[in-house]
Amino acid sequence: MSVDGYIDDASPERLRLSSPADFDRVDDVRASCDAILVGAGTVRRDDPKLLVKSESRRAKRVARGRSPDLTKVTVTWSGDLDPESRFFTTGDAPKLVYTASPGAQELAGRLDGRAEVIDAGDPVSFPAMLDDLGVRGVRRLMVEGGGGIHTYFMTAGLVDELHLVVAPFLIGDPSAPRFVGSGVFPQTPKRPMRLEEITRIGNLALLRYLVGGERG
Ligand SMILES: NC(=O)c1ccc[n+]([C@@H]2O[C@H](COP(=O)([O-])OP(=O)(O)OC[C@H]3O[C@@H](n4cnc5c(N)ncnc54)[C@H](OP(=O)(O)O)[C@@H]3O)[C@@H](O)[C@H]2O)c1
Repeated sequence: MSVDGYIDDASPERLRLSSPADFDRVDDVRASCDAILVGAGTVRRDDPKLLVKSESRRAKRVARGRSPDLTKVTVTWSGDLDPESRFFTTGDAPKLVYTASPGAQELAGRLDGRAEVIDAGDPVSFPAMLDDLGVRGVRRLMVEGGGGIHTYFMTAGLVDELHLVVAPFLIGDPSAPRFVGSGVFPQTPKRPMRLEEITRIGNLALLRYLVGGERG
């Protein structure tokens, strides 16, 4: 995020806040996870591939009996997802779409086998989604945005660890997306997160927090 807490600007083009060194660190974290989740808003706006880029990290995953790429996960209420987006068309690992009951069947028909569509209740239950991912062997899930998804995970107390990378500029536009929106967060001045690591990545700062929250 920018120093003033934005994760994008308001222009139609994707704003890259990270440096090549930080993208490489992100690739390393991705490689250590079983699955990666972004919200449908990020699939629509950024059209990310969500793959592990480094060949050596891919090879190491294979040597450990895993797929070179992570299982991709997204969540949508509206079902507004383009089957041609790179979420669906890149990588060989499973793609999972959790959606609300009313539109699940229609969405499965529209995606036509490009992803498994899972009816996650009405409204979508995030704890049930995480339980289902656990049953599928996902132990470590990386959540990579955007702001709506961060807000939901943080307010629901479903986060163990937060990697916050601060880019050395400000966006200053209230219409741009923020790292989190408004909400009632379990992490309060009385129950703060624990700052576990501060690392300089060139001109960026990585702050790694253990979240704790209501679960301590
Ligand atoms: N700087 C970074 O590291 C970074 C990383 C990722 C994204 N971003 C930025 O973040 C922005 C996108 O953020 P965003 O908040 O618009 O989108 P988002 O968080 O990616 O996704 C929000 C969407 O997720 C679905 N969703 C959220 N809660 C749900 C629930 N309880 N039940 C069912 N579906 C639910 C909804 O999809 P439907 O609308 O389909 O119902 C909702 O619109 C973009 O500007 C992107 O560039 C930045």
